[in-house]
Amino acid sequence: MYDNNPTLVGIRKEIDESRQGEAFYLERADNSIEGSRFFYIESYGCQMNFSDSEIVASILAEAGYRPTRAMEEADLILINTCSIREKAEETVRKRLRLFDKLKAQRPGALVGVLGCMAERLKKKLLEEEKLVDLVIGPDAYRDLPALIQGAEEGEKGINVLLSREETYADISPLRLDSNGVSAFISIMRGCDNMCSFCVVPFTRGRERSRSAFSIVAEARSLFEKGYREVTLLGQNVDSYKWENPESGQLTTFAELLEMVAQLDPTLRVRFSTSHPKDITDEVLYTMARYDNICNYIHLPVQSGNSRILELMNRTYDREWYMDKVRRIYEIIPDCAISSDIITGFCTETEEEHQDTLSMIEFANYSMSYMFFYSERPGTLAARKYPDDIPMNVKKRRLQEVIRLQTQVSFRHNQADIGKTFQVLIEGDSRKSESEFRGRNSQNKMIVFPKVKGLKPGDYTWVRVNEATSATLKGEVVEKT
Ligand code: SAH
Ligand code: SF4
Ligand code: F3S
Repeated sequence: MYDNNPTLVGIRKEIDESRQGEAFYLERADNSIEGSRFFYIESYGCQMNFSDSEIVASILAEAGYRPTRAMEEADLILINTCSIREKAEETVRKRLRLFDKLKAQRPGALVGVLGCMAERLKKKLLEEEKLVDLVIGPDAYRDLPALIQGAEEGEKGINVLLSREETYADISPLRLDSNGVSAFISIMRGCDNMCSFCVVPFTRGRERSRSAFSIVAEARSLFEKGYREVTLLGQNVDSYKWENPESGQLTTFAELLEMVAQLDPTLRVRFSTSHPKDITDEVLYTMARYDNICNYIHLPVQSGNSRILELMNRTYDREWYMDKVRRIYEIIPDCAISSDIITGFCTETEEEHQDTLSMIEFANYSMSYMFFYSERPGTLAARKYPDDIPMNVKKRRLQEVIRLQTQVSFRHNQADIGKTFQVLIEGDSRKSESEFRGRNSQNKMIVFPKVKGLKPGDYTWVRVNEATSATLKGEVVEKT
């Protein structure tokens, strides 16, 4: 679900996490209204950030701002940022340089930094980037209209307070660049795991779960608008736990999944991300019970070696993770599993790196997001361990991981040739207007020639005829 790191392969490149680093724009709604002010927003980072931009858009719309796709026309330029790796921050700084130039041509326009970089750098961002007018952390978006007003009066605005309660539960996100078929629903915020490499607990604060009722209501409203797939989002969805303030009753993630799945059998349910330590059998059995809960789990391993996992503070070891993978394939035999992998973490030896390679084979990941370790200031690892693997070694190991994962993805996809899958049509294929694209339950993108009568949002049966490591190709068939 991550930033603009180009080092990723796999079939989901173009979906979900993939919008990484791409600017993500809003349609200009109506430019004929006199006196209305326009905002432009770009998002980087994980899907949670994209989801937050939709909340920000909703707050701004409420305050009378209108969206535009053209940054040159905007009165307010916002960039929703990511801090996960150094490179993610560099990309954002480049964009800020560009906005600076734009501002020179458009006096009065304001530039605001939102998200994780705002939270991490706080006041420093105002000092370093002289032309930034607003700095707003992920829990402070309700304060945006007031801060904008202050900035219009010449006062730089900053609010980076983290909250223990904020879930934006009552805000109905303004869906951006939507295909009208699949949408993301944020079910929790923050993260209480202290993976030693990770900046997220510092930028997003404490974990909190959103009201189950508001999640179900959002899913229902999306379904009524024609959406046919929702992805429940959180850094660690399996630790979702919501206590009903009136009855005191607890809702677990498995229960929430079931509540959403029961809305309608034609509404697909996905979720991301699962932490291996928290995904329960109950979740797996719930997935197996409902056809509309997709058979796909993103289960980041990070490393295949127990010593490194311990240094990473992942709280599971190699054997424990392998047992989890066995359990998934046992309960949901046709489940696809994907992963996140970091190479060259502090003190990692060649043998330990080999353990990561063998894990890719063992787990038979359908795809992975792969990164070399990037030390983040303030994290446990930065404070405790030396970042001692030379860059060329980190990168070489990453190349080895990518090469192997590409082979495993290819094999995984080849094994689908001849099989027939139910596909939810998302729209035209990237390459041709005469083809549709859609995904199967396992989250694999399948491209197939259009057939009369079918449209985005419809389900159809597709037999796979061809496969690369990234995509499946097929044709519409009668259900067998
Ligand atoms: N909550 C998710 C991951 C969020 S961050 C989880 O626990 O799995 C997304 C991914 O970025 C992580 O899974 C990890 O693989 C990668 N990542 C995080 N910090 C990193 C760092 N300092 N260097 C390189 N990759 C990192
Ligand atoms: Fe970061 Fe770990 Fe939390 Fe994921 S679970 S966001 S990797 S601290
Ligand atoms: Fe990046 Fe923040 Fe997400 S650091 S990965 S945008 S939670």
